Amino acid sequence: MGKMRGTVALALLVLALSSLPPACLAVTSPYVRPRPRATLSLRRDADAGGQTPQQVHVSAVGPDKMRVTWITDDDAPATVDYGTASGQYPFSATGTTAVYSYLLYHSGNIHDAVVGPLKPSTTYYYRCSSDTSREFSFRTPPSVLPFTFVIAGDLGQTEWTNSTLQHIAAADYDMLLLPGDLSYADLDQPRWDSYGRLVEPLASARPWMVTEGNHEVEKIPLIERHPFKAYNARWRMPYDAGASPSGSNLYYSFDAAGGAVHVIMLGSYTDYDAGTAQHRWLQADLAGVDRGKTAFVVALVHAPWYNSNKAHQGEGDGMRDAMEALLYGARVDAVFAGHVHAYERFARVYGDKEDQCGAVYVTIGDGGNREGLAEKYIDPQPKTSVFREASFGHGRLQVVNVTHALWTWHRNDDDEPVVADQTWITSLASNPACKK
Ligand SMILES: *[C@@H]1O[C@H](CO)[C@@H](O)[C@H](O)[C@H]1NC(C)=O
Ligand SMILES: *[C@@H]1O[C@H](CO)[C@@H](O)[C@H](O)[C@H]1NC(C)=O
Repeated sequence: MGKMRGTVALALLVLALSSLPPACLAVTSPYVRPRPRATLSLRRDADAGGQTPQQVHVSAVGPDKMRVTWITDDDAPATVDYGTASGQYPFSATGTTAVYSYLLYHSGNIHDAVVGPLKPSTTYYYRCSSDTSREFSFRTPPSVLPFTFVIAGDLGQTEWTNSTLQHIAAADYDMLLLPGDLSYADLDQPRWDSYGRLVEPLASARPWMVTEGNHEVEKIPLIERHPFKAYNARWRMPYDAGASPSGSNLYYSFDAAGGAVHVIMLGSYTDYDAGTAQHRWLQADLAGVDRGKTAFVVALVHAPWYNSNKAHQGEGDGMRDAMEALLYGARVDAVFAGHVHAYERFARVYGDKEDQCGAVYVTIGDGGNREGLAEKYIDPQPKTSVFREASFGHGRLQVVNVTHALWTWHRNDDDEPVVADQTWITSLASNPACKK
């Protein structure tokens, strides 16, 4: 029944799209959503505890290494044993262990170790802390195009999150990018642990590259003075690796597909104005990108710079004022944001106007968290907004070659991942009109 309704709505949408005159492409989707879903209660596995690794996740470090992060309740060695055949681990790496306290909570032992050099597009099997009860595997990303990113923001840990994760797991992708708001622990630290358990099946198998959202701040005046305590301890990113180390876990960049794609993870919740460390770093990072070699440059940020949803209006404006010209000057191809719990795609924009050399702006804050959807839109829809819909889902960016990337948005439609929006994004480096 629900599936039928979705199909009918989709057919209507396709009809609406195809009957619109080309001058007026702005679409507000008429999709009718299923009901909200409950917050998951993720209890510990019965056999977890002791030195058993839990909450395992991996992230890419430089062109050919991977950081493995995991937690044990008891003291355990920060070692990862790995190799290309299941059960055989000819290689080993030892990293470091840290703990943190937050109010009355004391974290488990948070270990991380960097493994490599690794071969591209290869499955590695690994175990953590010499534990023999759990074997994991990840596939390293390819060192050439094509390269497929999954992008999902504002995930949280509800049944909708689970549905988004199931759809992502069914896709063949190389790396996941998350534009902020991971666990929605919101000060309740055990929920960082349950989030770690929820995402482990995916995050232990493909690199997850994240940046922070407002839910990561977790600062309490006078009591917990240091922001991002849990986030920085649990989700350490490669800010000290690559061609332009940032020195801060709150913003960093890296290359993918052997340098054909440059990914910039910006920080909406740390200083970004001209003269700040992040602004200076971004300038230097962009100056180091050679568009003769780098086909695509994409950026992620939490609070969207373009947004026609009534939720979070204007919250990204200060950062846009500070940084949009830098991205435009470097011909950044696309900017993905979270924060607003809905999907929206803009045309190529610069300075709030359509501009063929501006970035495509996408809001993808629809991973499935417990706050629900942002359903109220500003009317009329701005001309720059091409498609908008308040549903949960995830996006995929398939960079197929040096000129073309296919962007698709997959709505969680009654448990079926439905492609509800798609567009080809062509590299600005390949557009003579945008040459500098
Ligand atoms: C997530 O969804 C799958 C498939 O529907 C189900 O088997 C699994 O139990 C769910 N996980 C949780 C934590 O609810
Ligand atoms: C790149 O991919 C696009 C889309 O599939 C295709 O039209 C184009 O011919 C490709 N370019 C090259 C050089 O293969």
